[in-house]
Amino acid sequence: MQCNFLSFLLAIFAVASAAGCGNQRAEVVPVAEHDAQTRALGLLKMMTLDEKIQLVHGVGNGASPLEGAAFIPGIKRLGIPDINIADSSTSVRVANANATIMPSTLALAASWDPELAHEYGAAIGRELRTLGFVEGLGGGINLSREPRGGRTFEYMGEDPVLAGHMVAQRTLGTQEQKVIATLKHYALNNQETNRFVSNSIVDERTMRQLYLLGFEIAVKEGRPGNVMCAYNLVNGVKACESAYLLQTVLKDEWGFDGFVQSDWSYAVRNTVRAANAGLDEEQPGSLNDSVGAGGEPTHFNQRLKAAVESGTVSMSRLDDMVLRKLRTMFRVGIMDAPPKPGGRIDKDAGHAVAKKVAAGSIVLLKNNNQETAARAILPLDAALLKKIVVIGGHADVGVMAGGGSGGPMAAVNNPVKCLLPEKMYTECAPFSASSPFAEIRAKAKSAQVQYFDGKDSVVAANAAANADVVIIFATQFSGEARDLASLGLSDPSSDPANQAFDQRALIEAVAKKNANTVIVLEHGTAVTMPWLPSVAAVLASWYPGDQGGAAIADILFGDINPSAKLPMTFPRSEADLPQKYISATDLNVSYSERLMVGYRWYDAQKIDPLFAFGYGLSYTTFSYADLHLSRTSTGNVKVNFTLTNTGARAGSEVMQVYAALPANAGEPPQRLLAWKKVQLAPGQKKNIEIDVAPERLKVWNTAEKQWTLPKGAYEFRLGNSSRDANVLRAAQAF
Ligand code: BGC
Repeated sequence: MQCNFLSFLLAIFAVASAAGCGNQRAEVVPVAEHDAQTRALGLLKMMTLDEKIQLVHGVGNGASPLEGAAFIPGIKRLGIPDINIADSSTSVRVANANATIMPSTLALAASWDPELAHEYGAAIGRELRTLGFVEGLGGGINLSREPRGGRTFEYMGEDPVLAGHMVAQRTLGTQEQKVIATLKHYALNNQETNRFVSNSIVDERTMRQLYLLGFEIAVKEGRPGNVMCAYNLVNGVKACESAYLLQTVLKDEWGFDGFVQSDWSYAVRNTVRAANAGLDEEQPGSLNDSVGAGGEPTHFNQRLKAAVESGTVSMSRLDDMVLRKLRTMFRVGIMDAPPKPGGRIDKDAGHAVAKKVAAGSIVLLKNNNQETAARAILPLDAALLKKIVVIGGHADVGVMAGGGSGGPMAAVNNPVKCLLPEKMYTECAPFSASSPFAEIRAKAKSAQVQYFDGKDSVVAANAAANADVVIIFATQFSGEARDLASLGLSDPSSDPANQAFDQRALIEAVAKKNANTVIVLEHGTAVTMPWLPSVAAVLASWYPGDQGGAAIADILFGDINPSAKLPMTFPRSEADLPQKYISATDLNVSYSERLMVGYRWYDAQKIDPLFAFGYGLSYTTFSYADLHLSRTSTGNVKVNFTLTNTGARAGSEVMQVYAALPANAGEPPQRLLAWKKVQLAPGQKKNIEIDVAPERLKVWNTAEKQWTLPKGAYEFRLGNSSRDANVLRAAQAF
């Protein structure tokens, strides 16, 4: 049986037949769902053709009355409210709205904390609604196959299971605020170079197991109202015109009952192809289909109307587009309580969540000095410090944020002056006005605390020579539309808009004069660190948001114990990456490493990463013991063990379960199955149970077009990273 929209409707009214629609979500449909469907159908029946067309496209770039990314005017006579849409990956991206700048979503992934992801989604949802928005365009989840990808900061790292569950929670948080959440960019939009025209060439198994799996998990668990399809082509077909991606996989197999929206302007080339493939909304659209942004024609206004009139797109397809939108608006609660523009952002509430996320997402990467074998320098003890030197990163005024639609408005309230005239919105980094220097000073009241901007490395190094501790803030700016040339720290040649000096040379000069040098990174992706052996400690703070300065200081001084873990591998150099370089001219991007993405690549190639996926230190220590596995009646594997906080401080641990599949499965050496984060008091011991669903162990069988569980012996591995030297192992046969 083909699981099409008709079967979906039948399923909604009755009990879903599982046959052939293995992933149909609901067995018994809750009343609210039934209501949403009935009421949406009722409205649809009353709509004219023009009204239907009005609901499936935006009215053009820059035409949003609330200065959001898009606008679809409502239909008053039917009680359908205006649909105001804003970018909201890390902040509601509207000028002068005073929205909270949250830590980047990559930072959120580093927290490995689903509850925090829920709070993050809720905080952004609240602010969207306060400002009058019906829909937020956050929820980026493209895997960081290529860490130089400019948008890595607004995605969720390199593992689909981590990314999928985290974004699902973010989605639920937003939609509980009665705001439609978005998953994007569906699919295989893993780098920015040539993003409108590049063609991701990938085999089906790799696509299913890696690049689609995060979307699948998030669609089923989080039920987003909106999925934004990507600009790029997938195996030769524009993602927004791919019946395979939109209809077969997303809607039929996964049971997605929301609507599919195009990415902006360049995602649709052909009206009929897109509509019939399953695209439900075009953005930013236009009032006459003549031109959208960048001189591109748009497709879902007059062109779509003509196609429906001529029968090349059926009326039932158009009805389906509209029904999906209306049903989502009823389900999420917008029809009964449309948001009103003009509310005031509750900054305290936003900042409370931003602080929690920053504190939970800063990764302690190093905490000793390999050259001097000195003991851990962090946390700092304010009472023992007489002189602290803080250098670089504009730490006197703020912390960096990401660029483009996934970041906050760059030009507004930016405490850091752009070094170049701003030509494109991606060129100058936005900053949050949250000064780490001020926060450090507040913690170390009896110490002399000096700030140097770092432009003159000799002056900075001389000042640092006799300090008790030196803290260097180092930045790596990234953003939409531009991939990074390298993963090293920016310098004036790689980032002329934001950097006036060579940060690597600065670190080397300072560390030579003072072994007690701590590096705090503000970054959008992995960073290479040729200077690592010479410094005493490194914190990865990502783009830490409006409370970044305070959270960094709390971690430096031990008021917060770091608990975050890397959501992506940090390589030693770009030479270790599977894709050696990003071609500026070859539009075919071959995913020839297949399943070997992220840690899977480093494991398979036996490459020693600089820092492994899942890695992160704490100020306390944990030990794992008594691992045993059992099966539940539903086929899950229960992973049981005890965790003990063996150190002197309270702390949270992220316990990670990986599996090596049977050798004949042809899989990478291991994959993440599940994880749990818990907090323990010093000395506390706790029995932990982590449930692994059999789905997590399956492989995509391309011949049979379904997930299958390879038979044989599985090795379950439990540890605190993908490369834990003390990993515990247990066997399980299937
Ligand atoms: C980006 C989307 C974004 C949209 C609206 C596009 O260029 O790819 O992620 O939501 O612009 O700003």
